[in-house]
Amino acid sequence: MHPSAAGSAQTPATSSTARAAADSERVLTAGLASGASEVSLIPVLDDNYVFVLHGASNGSAGASNGGSDGGPGQAIVVDPAVAEPVIAWLEQRQLEPIAVLHTHHHHDHIGGTPELLLRWPQLQVIAAAADRQRIPFQTQGVGDGDRLNLLGRAIEVMAMPGHTRAHIAFYLPTGDGSVDDPSGGELFCGDTLFAGGCGRLLEGSPEQLWQSLQRLAALPAATRVWCSHEYTEANLRWAHHLHPNDQAINDRFRQVLRMRAAERPTIPTTIGEELLSNLFVRSRDVAEFTRYRHSKDHWRG
Ligand SMILES: [Fe+2]
Repeated sequence: MHPSAAGSAQTPATSSTARAAADSERVLTAGLASGASEVSLIPVLDDNYVFVLHGASNGSAGASNGGSDGGPGQAIVVDPAVAEPVIAWLEQRQLEPIAVLHTHHHHDHIGGTPELLLRWPQLQVIAAAADRQRIPFQTQGVGDGDRLNLLGRAIEVMAMPGHTRAHIAFYLPTGDGSVDDPSGGELFCGDTLFAGGCGRLLEGSPEQLWQSLQRLAALPAATRVWCSHEYTEANLRWAHHLHPNDQAINDRFRQVLRMRAAERPTIPTTIGEELLSNLFVRSRDVAEFTRYRHSKDHWRG
């Protein structure tokens, strides 16, 4: 990981922004340079992450892809569960969001957007057209195969039915997008693929979620996976319980325990890591996947 330098040259924070600042100082270490842009995560609620794609930091607070006049840079916000810490985070860095991406309609993914729209009325809100009724403030409906271009990054929309029927993911390749592309890219996959796990089947069939995960597994191994919840420790504890002698799972479980003990996020993961140690991704067929999903749903470890 490349530490993202939020630095100490912050503008004085108000009391309402101080908490968010303290949180984001801790998690900015998860910001990863990717071409000219960078992803940062903001922890909110119990275990949600809100992601912000913005210009790569040059080492000073507020630095972004904005002009040299120190004016605001631009950013894309992914799945804002709540608004206040996101607004504080952006304002501290003089970032202006131009778009919000939504992976699905659950409140802990869209709850902050109406307030963000009050603060930045020009925001594009991009969500599944098929979920227009459940995400009524969307300004641009998208579907599988659609391509967007924001902040100079190509964004591919992938249908991901399973957790919900209209769930989508956003994939931002950095290279040519081929499977062996060493530069990978960024994947915002909401509640479809988790680090060491996958989303629950709330509206889709096992077959659908299995197919969705298979599509993600075919992305370049280096792809950074920005999933929306910090569930990794519980996922690996379950996997370790089922397969106590699996080396890849053992190694990762120990690593995750160390990261969480240090209050570090385990996100992003990579497609390559999930291919190695995620039982859902490793499943050879729908039947095996279904058994694992049933096991995890009923596990009370
Ligand atoms: Fe969800």
